[in-house]
Amino acid sequence: MKERVGAVVLAAGKGRRMGTETAKQFLELKGKPLIYYALKAFEDSRVDEVVLVTGKESVAYCQEEIVRAFGFCKVRAVVEGGKERIDSVYEGLKAFAGKSSIDYVLIHDGARPLVSEEMIVRAIEGAIRFQSCVAAMPVKDTIKVCDSEHFARETLDRRLLWQMQTPQAFAFSLIYQAYREVMGWKEGEGRERITDDAMVAEAVFGPTGQKIKLIEGDYRNIKVTTPEDLLIAEAFLTARGG
Ligand code: CTP
Ligand code: MG
Repeated sequence: MKERVGAVVLAAGKGRRMGTETAKQFLELKGKPLIYYALKAFEDSRVDEVVLVTGKESVAYCQEEIVRAFGFCKVRAVVEGGKERIDSVYEGLKAFAGKSSIDYVLIHDGARPLVSEEMIVRAIEGAIRFQSCVAAMPVKDTIKVCDSEHFARETLDRRLLWQMQTPQAFAFSLIYQAYREVMGWKEGEGRERITDDAMVAEAVFGPTGQKIKLIEGDYRNIKVTTPEDLLIAEAFLTARGG
């Protein structure tokens, strides 16, 4: 039996750090909306189905101007996201739980246009082998912890520090169970500190539970976050060609 694989692609953020009127995932990059590139990568991969999550005001735009216009036939649903990233992921997972049976799910930031076929393959293989895996790269800069007045307090051991990327990939039932649990937490129970999917699994299963494997990401797989990232992403896309 061939495993069925789904992908949740996130495009429901406000892009505050970008500071543009149009949310960053819809800004034009080499003549196409930024979100096009991640969707294209999944369309051309062995992923079976994609759920695109976006803001309420952008659902119709995504259906017409993105999914239909570019002929992304793997996108089975465009659903409305939530206030925080974690809420949006949960909506994406729910869409899969309701209507199809997938064995594995890849969760991807739509703001990372440079995700490649190779990364998607590594994420699927990692999910099958380890149940939970995250694309990551060693940090290049020295990382310090500072105090509230921005004085350096402590320098972390760089050899142990990795920056997390997406895709983050999981056995579907495992991550869906973890998300359902965390979504039930009350205010102040730590939900607001969770910034990626692996943290949801860590929070629920604890240090002795399901381990999360770091798999090889790519330094080019940047998250377009601030204006200068647009130039970098464009340069990488140009270098990649096609
Ligand atoms: N995201 C989402 N729903 C949210 C918040 C974020 O789907 N409520 C998505 C973004 O669209 C993005 C990814 O999660 O693809 C990573 O988030 P981030 O880079 O932080 O994007 P924004 O939240 O949009 O940007 P900012 O934090 O600067 O406002
Ligand atoms: Mg954000």
